Amino acid sequence: MSQPTTSLPSAGFPRTAALAAGVVVLILVIVILFQSLPRPEPPPSGDPRVERGRRLFFEETFEGNGRTCGSCHPAENNFTLDPAFIATLPPTDPLFVAEFTPALKDNFEKPDLMRKFAVILENLDGFGDLGNQFVLRGIPHVLAQRISVQSPQGPRTGWSGDGSPGDGSLRSFAVGAVIQHFTKRLDRVPGVDFRLPTDDELDALEAFMLSLGRQEDPKLPLPLKGEVARRGQEIFLDDALGKCNRCHQNAGANANFGGANNNANFNTGVEDLPDQPARLSGAVVPRDDGLGTPGDGTFNTPPLVEAADTGPFFHNNSIETIEGAVAFYNGQAFNNSPAGRALAGSDPNGVGIRLDATQVVAVAAFLRVLNAIENIREADALLQAALGSRAGAILKQALAEIRDAARVLEGGGLHPQAVDDLRQAEREAEKALRKRPPGGPHLGEARAFLAKARSKLSDP
Ligand code: HEC
Ligand code: HEC
Repeated sequence: MSQPTTSLPSAGFPRTAALAAGVVVLILVIVILFQSLPRPEPPPSGDPRVERGRRLFFEETFEGNGRTCGSCHPAENNFTLDPAFIATLPPTDPLFVAEFTPALKDNFEKPDLMRKFAVILENLDGFGDLGNQFVLRGIPHVLAQRISVQSPQGPRTGWSGDGSPGDGSLRSFAVGAVIQHFTKRLDRVPGVDFRLPTDDELDALEAFMLSLGRQEDPKLPLPLKGEVARRGQEIFLDDALGKCNRCHQNAGANANFGGANNNANFNTGVEDLPDQPARLSGAVVPRDDGLGTPGDGTFNTPPLVEAADTGPFFHNNSIETIEGAVAFYNGQAFNNSPAGRALAGSDPNGVGIRLDATQVVAVAAFLRVLNAIENIREADALLQAALGSRAGAILKQALAEIRDAARVLEGGGLHPQAVDDLRQAEREAEKALRKRPPGGPHLGEARAFLAKARSKLSDP
């Protein structure tokens, strides 16, 4: 990062020299503060809190309306929901409580919008005016939390970085989620409409969530084999062209200014996109003002390794494809936003981000391959762990990851031979799943096909 004054952890990019000097000092303070922040260690394998947290996450209803955390963060769909997955659920699924519970009929969800765009209603500014004060947000996956929520100002959870009540931590997130999403009535009386999680339960939920997904960011550049994805990676990393790495360092969730890793908020203008699908449907979709009450218009930077198979994209699910999400950065909404203008301000030609169509596709190809590599890593780890009483469930999860890897490559017309290997791995994993008990030699076969596919994407 050559000019640290241009990349701030929030929307207020400086224009005057005096401000800029102040910002340098601020960044130095942030760097020092951040370096003294402890990073939680991965829980030891077999940590009983992780196992307890898993059960709570997928089974505990907190005496509420029947939903669990897994209703919106299902493991088999990358811990998030999209309209295609929602369409497979039975009408009695507790996700749809607003459709069949009279007390939750109005102002709890917008059922049509939930089914069509996978957006969830939230009252981030309080429950005082339910008819008017709400936002509709997509559901973030809860993968790689260990490396995507820390900032010197404290943990940043949720799309605006302040989704968690009290201390803002991942540990406290479940408290807000239960009050918002689990209630039986809109009165939301604890002990009547739901019960709040206990301290032990919060510890267990946190341990479980921290165990999910990657525990570290990739170190870019990777020695990729496909030339389009390789070029996409170059553009992504080029601070004078794609500029992505400034905010998504190593395709993670941390900004890149002067050596400090920091999960930052920016106003990138997503709210100003014209023709947002949910609004085209004619529904009332209030403007989402982002961090704080009243909001400052900023949103939290999500990690990108997990992006390609967890669309629709951005906090309001306004873009369906990963190519479209990359193309967003060329448009007026981004380039007129505070973040876009700040990038333009530090560009010799006054350009924010401007990529041509081939470059958009290349960056998206890079994000697809990165995602496939992560899916293969996860699937392989799961195949190795598929033993004992949970073997069946773990194998199903591995299958979901293998299918994602294939789909994400296929969707971009990338690496057809690796896709073929992945289909073979899928067949072997299916055979292993059909065995009683699940497992056997097919596990090894599946892993061998995964390794073959992996070797076609990049060198080790
Ligand atoms: C009805 C759907 C729904 C349910 C049920 C639900 N969540 Fe979420 N979750 C969301 C949405 C929507 C967001 C985005 C929140 C925001 O940006 O304000 C979210 C965000 C999160 C995040 C932040 C992720 C990030 O990247 O910062 C965590 C952690 C989380 N949920 C955990 C939980 C836990 C734990 C439970 C169960 C106690 C739960 N959720 C239940 C919909 C749900
Ligand atoms: C100024 C900082 C900044 C820059 C530069 C930037 N991003 Fe982002 N990115 C963000 C923020 C903040 C969000 C969340 C915005 C929202 O949802 O409102 C985001 C969201 C995304 C998402 C959606 C992820 C999801 O899970 O929904 C993708 C994909 C993405 N960025 C890709 C890129 C690419 C590719 C580039 C380079 C061309 C880039 N970003 C440059 C800050 C940035």
